[in-house]
Amino acid sequence: MQRYKLLISVIFSVGLLLNLYSQTEVPVYLDEGKPIKDRIEDALSRMTLEEKVAMCHAQSKFSTPGCPRLGIPEIWMSDGPHGVRMEFDWDDWLHAGWTNDSCTAYPALTCLAATFNPDLAYRYGYSLGEEARFRKKDIILGPGVNIYRTPLSGRNFEYMGEDPYLTSAMVVPYIQGVQKNGVAACMKHFVLNNQEKWRDTINVVVSDRALNEIYFPAFKAGVQKGNVWAVMGAYNKYKNQYCSHNEILINKILKTDWGFDGVMVTDWGSAHNTDEAARYGLDLEMGSWTNGLTWGVSSAYDNYYLATPFLDKIRSGELPESLVDEKVRRILLLNFRTNMDRSRTYGRKLTTEHKSLAIRVAEEGIVLLKNENNFFPILEGKYKKIAVIGENAIKKLTQGGGSSELKPKEEVSPLQGIINRYGTENVVYSMGYASGAPDYNNVLPSPFDADSLLHAAVEVARSADVVIFIGGLNKNKHQDCEGDDRLNMDLPFGQDKLIGELLKVNKNTGVIIVSGNAVSMPWLDKVDGVMQSWYLGSEAGTATANIISGNTNPSGKLPFSIPKKLEDNSAHYLGEKSYPGDGTNQYYLDDILVGYRWHDTKKIAPLFPFGYGLSYTTFEYGKISTDKKKYSEYESVRVSFTLTNKGKVDGAESVQLYMSQKSPSAMRPAKELKGFDKVFLKAGETKVVNMTVEVKDFAFYDEKTGSWVVENDDFILHNAASSGDVKSSITIKILN
Ligand code: BGC
Repeated sequence: MQRYKLLISVIFSVGLLLNLYSQTEVPVYLDEGKPIKDRIEDALSRMTLEEKVAMCHAQSKFSTPGCPRLGIPEIWMSDGPHGVRMEFDWDDWLHAGWTNDSCTAYPALTCLAATFNPDLAYRYGYSLGEEARFRKKDIILGPGVNIYRTPLSGRNFEYMGEDPYLTSAMVVPYIQGVQKNGVAACMKHFVLNNQEKWRDTINVVVSDRALNEIYFPAFKAGVQKGNVWAVMGAYNKYKNQYCSHNEILINKILKTDWGFDGVMVTDWGSAHNTDEAARYGLDLEMGSWTNGLTWGVSSAYDNYYLATPFLDKIRSGELPESLVDEKVRRILLLNFRTNMDRSRTYGRKLTTEHKSLAIRVAEEGIVLLKNENNFFPILEGKYKKIAVIGENAIKKLTQGGGSSELKPKEEVSPLQGIINRYGTENVVYSMGYASGAPDYNNVLPSPFDADSLLHAAVEVARSADVVIFIGGLNKNKHQDCEGDDRLNMDLPFGQDKLIGELLKVNKNTGVIIVSGNAVSMPWLDKVDGVMQSWYLGSEAGTATANIISGNTNPSGKLPFSIPKKLEDNSAHYLGEKSYPGDGTNQYYLDDILVGYRWHDTKKIAPLFPFGYGLSYTTFEYGKISTDKKKYSEYESVRVSFTLTNKGKVDGAESVQLYMSQKSPSAMRPAKELKGFDKVFLKAGETKVVNMTVEVKDFAFYDEKTGSWVVENDDFILHNAASSGDVKSSITIKILN
């Protein structure tokens, strides 16, 4: 009997232990030792249908709910792409007014592109990712890689210019830098959002060739080389289907052909239909209010296309549950890559490294366009009285522009930077012109009298030894701003007239244009010094003063062509069908001839070509040579030439490699960028520049076969200082 009792108690204890063990066993989805794929399937299998659907749409302006019951965290997002945006109210577009949500504002992406420096793009992405992580963001809504097709596009300042090679080369390290912090980059806006006018509805008609050669490459590189974890859809349509749920763009190209394994996010309010959102590749619906673009209904996240309507259709059997499973798998993968990766770092914010990086990018991006009679640099002590004129010398240009607005902890204005450098006693300021009050939706009239401002500035200029005019655009509506385009290419608010008046009283006047777009320059011949500057962020003034004073030698190069007049730009040359379209459709009649491809091929000289930028020193290019004369399609061409800094100051030159095909069977642009390298040289120093290009990159996209083709032909390689300044060329043969 005793023995029997003992046996029972042993069995009982073992059972108890087993039971305890099974209760403490880590579920597979939380077991870091298990493969991610298994963890995803396990998490998915534990979720109710309602929980799965909840993960596919917003719960607030910038977050999704996760699955609280299973401990799957919320996903928090922020714009993007130049810094971590300030916080918002839960359910409206009011700034939340926190006191701890300031950031480092990095220079806008046009400036980053103008550096032609991929190492800086990595550091930019990394620093931004650090700040995003510190602010507990899981996705940063950037980078923007839509192609600069027209100088009127309101968001060009958020993108990286007109060339697919340059944009691709810069976006990959940016993404890698961000994601190193366990924060997802969200590359946007896929695709063809190349103008803001009618962005919510316009259907873009474009050839497959232009898509593949011009508009896709940066996105493809971001997916395949950058391994980006999220992509945002564009507002517009392609083949009459909204881009955010587009069968061809997302299901076929992005997810199947390119193998994108991340999350496809809407732009805010860019979903329009439950069936399409469910079937055509959208994973996560975010929004401004409810049902797409309708404003005014609050806390209506359950009404989103991927919310209750989606749930109902699955419940009724109209849509299969496999559709939501596929979306949740991708969202869970993003969780595992970000907020469920316990090894990710904690981030940092507003460090001295962030600050010096912001300065460095700004300095390397400013482009010296003209420098007659050595107008620049304005060395300290050269002049007693420096007049600074123009509203952009004092305006906070990290604000405005739409979703890329930022709240920097500090913002050094150009005027402040100049005062810091030259001393208060040597600098006098006059505004000269004024824009209206900053407003994204309306153009409010300026409270100042234009004539009085002009008169006062002329008097200040008259009495100064040198005048630095700092103007341009300003991120108000129609002036480089999301939601609409510029109305023309001219400087607004009477700036051309003002510059003319300043020149009448003081010939020693230089102009600094702050913008993200090309502006017309009717006064160019009369001005000795001109710089193209950008929205430079927190340290705008420090960097501007460093360049003006010669403390840093400028090395930026234009990431877009500046046409002499708007009609010389390809999109505009071809009339309204091409830009802005007829309100329903827009036809990319310029096809692959975008930017310098157009100017070079059609022999329409720009005012300043793509890739152009001067330095305070001069560079001498040696003759280009290649390692061989004949190559097959699978080989690489090794190119070399010498580069010498012929001047008295150290400097950097972004050397460019262009390719032309001699007798192509299809039309090809006069030349295409295939490589670049930013070379730093001490005064008098010579370096051998080596570059490698793969022959497969000489291909064009053949629409008939839907494939990339390198033809047996002669190809000419050019080393160049810009698309308009070829230094030497060499012909090689491709024989397959
Ligand atoms: C913009 C996106 C942005 C989103 C969230 C949209 O209006 O087009 O680029 O990320 O808002 O602010």
